[in-house]
Amino acid sequence: MKNYAIVLAAGKGTRMKTELPKCAFPILKKPMIEYIVENIEESVVDETVCVIGYQRQIFEKMFDGRVNFAYQEQQLGTGHAVMATKELMANKRGTTIILLGDMPLIDAKIINRAISYHRDRGNDLTVVTSEFDNPKGYGRIIRNEYRNIEAIVEHIDCTDEQKRIKEINTGIYIVNNSDLFKVLDSIQVNERKGEYYLTDIVEIMKKDYVVGTFVLWDSIKAMGVNDLFSVSVAEKVLREQINRTHMLNGVSIINPSTVTIGHDVKIESNVIIYPNTYITGPSVIKTGAKVGPNTELHTSIVHENVYIKHSIVFDSEIHANTVIGPFAHLRNGANIGENNRIGNFVEIKNSITGNDTKAAHLAYIGDAITGNNVNFGCGSITVNYDGIKKHKTIIGNDVFIGCNTNLIAPINVGDNVFIAAGSTVTKNIPKGALAIARNKQINKADYAKNFIRAKDDQK
Ligand code: UD1
Ligand code: MG
Repeated sequence: MKNYAIVLAAGKGTRMKTELPKCAFPILKKPMIEYIVENIEESVVDETVCVIGYQRQIFEKMFDGRVNFAYQEQQLGTGHAVMATKELMANKRGTTIILLGDMPLIDAKIINRAISYHRDRGNDLTVVTSEFDNPKGYGRIIRNEYRNIEAIVEHIDCTDEQKRIKEINTGIYIVNNSDLFKVLDSIQVNERKGEYYLTDIVEIMKKDYVVGTFVLWDSIKAMGVNDLFSVSVAEKVLREQINRTHMLNGVSIINPSTVTIGHDVKIESNVIIYPNTYITGPSVIKTGAKVGPNTELHTSIVHENVYIKHSIVFDSEIHANTVIGPFAHLRNGANIGENNRIGNFVEIKNSITGNDTKAAHLAYIGDAITGNNVNFGCGSITVNYDGIKKHKTIIGNDVFIGCNTNLIAPINVGDNVFIAAGSTVTKNIPKGALAIARNKQINKADYAKNFIRAKDDQK
């Protein structure tokens, strides 16, 4: 028997007060709905339909080829959203799990357990419930004297007594697919909200079918994200899960509540992450490396024993034993060789540095390729931009670039070159040459007094 999933994501998410549709809003840089779809993909579900409407093209692009789409032009409630799948789903035989696109903490295990429970119990409809200390905003589970589920009542429709019920509707339902489409049309519009509530299927199915509940005790996993505060709560849970997994794999994280690591980050054992560090994108950090404190690293590869402190690294690769920072900025394809030292206020963009290269202070290296053992003196710069185009700087091995040198690109600097400090270099420098490109100094004997005001004048 096949398993199907229906994910509801057509709403705008008015309570978010953001432009983006709620289900596309990122948590740890990943759209909220990606979590649920990825977890469905990992589960026993064979086919998924996403119900989309508001800004639907965002989801079409996100899940192209991964799910089927049903369109809900007007968002008239969760029941109405499921009706939108009728054409695609009504003739299918099997079990359907309905999930909401705003529940990023539900994992594949929960999905599998809920489906198995539904089958083992022989239920026709199973509602996944949980217990919240503060159930405000959620639909409440109404049970009869035998503790059987009778109905779900939305928070705004609850009596004061019902509001005290702590058992809530998670918004997950498992139902025999053909039965679902037999009863859906009986949902009546809720007069107060003008919406068709999916929750009404409980009362409707109670009459002729077996309706039961599956209680999810790990209640935080059941949270629905409806506003930006709950985004922060979900983010905290996900962040702690990720950090915990890394720590158990041998990554030392100092003050983990200040460290954010994205899902796609791979970290080997024997790495230390210091406080206030943010690592995201498909980054890789290899053994022996240290990252942080106060470092932002995105989509970058950090090789063995690299040390990055107080720095920003985007879309870059740093080879073994190199030290980056404090206050360095690597971006846009910086590829830093082994055993480099890239220090204070150095920016490197779209450049490759050879091994044993140093730019210890105040340098800009852009669109350059350097050989091994190159020393960029303090304040040296590749002048790569002429106001219209970017140009390349190529530097050989064993080159010494004196302080405050401007290398006006395009330019070639040969091996074993020495450039005098303060040079503005406009021509290629051949192998082995000493280049001096600055005005000669003139010392005028006894002349300074004309420029220094006498002490008496200054009074
Ligand atoms: C819903 C449930 C509530 C449950 C809670 C769990 C209903 C009536 N209420 O309330 O019992 O406790 O989830 O988090 O079902 N959507 C559509 N089309 C629509 C309306 C909504 O696709 O016309 C989608 C939304 O995009 C969202 C999901 O359904 O992803 C849930 O909608 P939301 O407005 O968040 O429902 P809640 O008020 O949280
Ligand atoms: Mg919700």
